[in-house]
Amino acid sequence: MKILVINGPNLNMLGKRNKAYYGDKTLPQIDALLKKEGKSLGADVVSFQSNSEGELIDCIQKNSSQAAGIIINPGALTHYGLSLRDALVDSGLPVVEVHLSNIYAREEWRAKSVMAPIARGQISGFGWRSYIAALQILVDELKVEK
Ligand code: DQA
Repeated sequence: MKILVINGPNLNMLGKRNKAYYGDKTLPQIDALLKKEGKSLGADVVSFQSNSEGELIDCIQKNSSQAAGIIINPGALTHYGLSLRDALVDSGLPVVEVHLSNIYAREEWRAKSVMAPIARGQISGFGWRSYIAALQILVDELKVEK
């Protein structure tokens, strides 16, 4: 079972970005934890990050036919990335939206997600553990649905 983990703009800077919101782990460290957790769950985790919406869409279009589900932290595209949202819908895959910070406890504009209505669910506010929780829940649901 292949799970795509997609990270949007600025998430390559984790470890240097505001640690009060995003914690101190780097994206490669989070990816390594996800791979390890995936192994124990029987899932193959494939990670991708880009600062460009077009590249995120290319990645979804290229890889979705071989994947069982998508975990995505769209970064600020969460709040306005309609092309990315369309690509997620077109993939036909279950999508779990994750955020390191609690997007409802920050600036007002962050409280709106254009992804949330098309996602199966959202996990927000648990730092790197948001990703691990998303992986556990998604793989568990996919196993039940098989
Ligand atoms: C984020 C929240 C977004 O509002 C922000 O633009 C990010 C990271 C998070 O993981 O908390 O880049 O998606």
